Amino acid sequence: MFVCPETGASLEAWYSNQADVLYPSVDGIPVLVPRPYDFLRRHGPWDPTSGVAGHAQDILGVDAPDAVSPFLAPSGLGASGSFGDWLLDLGQDGPDAWLAAQAQDAAPVGPAVDIGCGTGPMAARMHAAGRHVIALDRSPDAVLLCRALLTGGLTEALVPTHRRGARMMSVPVRPATSGLELAIADARHPPLEPASMAWAHLGFLLDVLGPDDVVAALVATIGLLPRGGVLTLANAYDAPEGAPNLPDEAPPGPEMREVLAELGMTVLAERDKVPHVTRHYDRRFTVRLVDCMVLRRD
Ligand SMILES: C[S@@+](CC[C@H](N)C(=O)[O-])C[C@H]1O[C@@H](n2cnc3c(N)ncnc32)[C@H](O)[C@@H]1O
Repeated sequence: MFVCPETGASLEAWYSNQADVLYPSVDGIPVLVPRPYDFLRRHGPWDPTSGVAGHAQDILGVDAPDAVSPFLAPSGLGASGSFGDWLLDLGQDGPDAWLAAQAQDAAPVGPAVDIGCGTGPMAARMHAAGRHVIALDRSPDAVLLCRALLTGGLTEALVPTHRRGARMMSVPVRPATSGLELAIADARHPPLEPASMAWAHLGFLLDVLGPDDVVAALVATIGLLPRGGVLTLANAYDAPEGAPNLPDEAPPGPEMREVLAELGMTVLAERDKVPHVTRHYDRRFTVRLVDCMVLRRD
């Protein structure tokens, strides 16, 4: 399934003939980024056995407060008081739940890719919906944790309860025994064949990229879709922490909409200001408002 991220050519035992690169792996997960050894030297884990030196490292951490909460519905987050009542009213609703339901109806039969998967909440939904799933992220730590969470390697994890406390909670994911592939990869150079994915998801990824990288990631991701393939986007308002405080302009801005139209994408459905709740510990939650888009490649 994976191809060379530099040339797009097929790989033989992780070797790209055209690029003359043998792609390395971290704990069995292939590192399919351009110039993978430079990447590992900067961002890889300290690994004396593979000769990766540890100096000048820039660790790409996991962008989630804990391993369990990203998989919980708002009603399961356990807040108290009127905020807790509001979460109970939200029930199962949230950006991932809505986007996954839309995409499952709109996307043709075929594999799905979660790009910038983080701990893998959307990859888990894709798998639960019966798709063959590719989960990609640039952070080695995120991909390793995602694999552990989605395949049953980690069934319990520490969740903060208050500033100095934590408790073990079970991971609410049915383990995948097949149909899931992971790679350390860059959204601007996904190691997949053109037009090979029925559904691609970019969840809170465009928020963290600069403008040029947003366009590069969109071009690359849309290139993975055949005609009729579906792209789902979750883009957050940069809302302040705490209760919703609506900014004036919805993401994605007019420029991104123009880029999407130029790349041949039609909006099938859109839902704005969907609350996305992050639990930090018992008394600290962040609510971000999210623009959710479902687009089809014409
Ligand atoms: C805010 S997190 C969202 C994670 C996940 N999609 C979710 O909804 O929970 C953004 C993720 O994008 C990843 N990321 C950032 N830049 C990337 C890039 N250029 N290519 C691939 N992943 C990237 C980060 O490592 C991080 O896991």
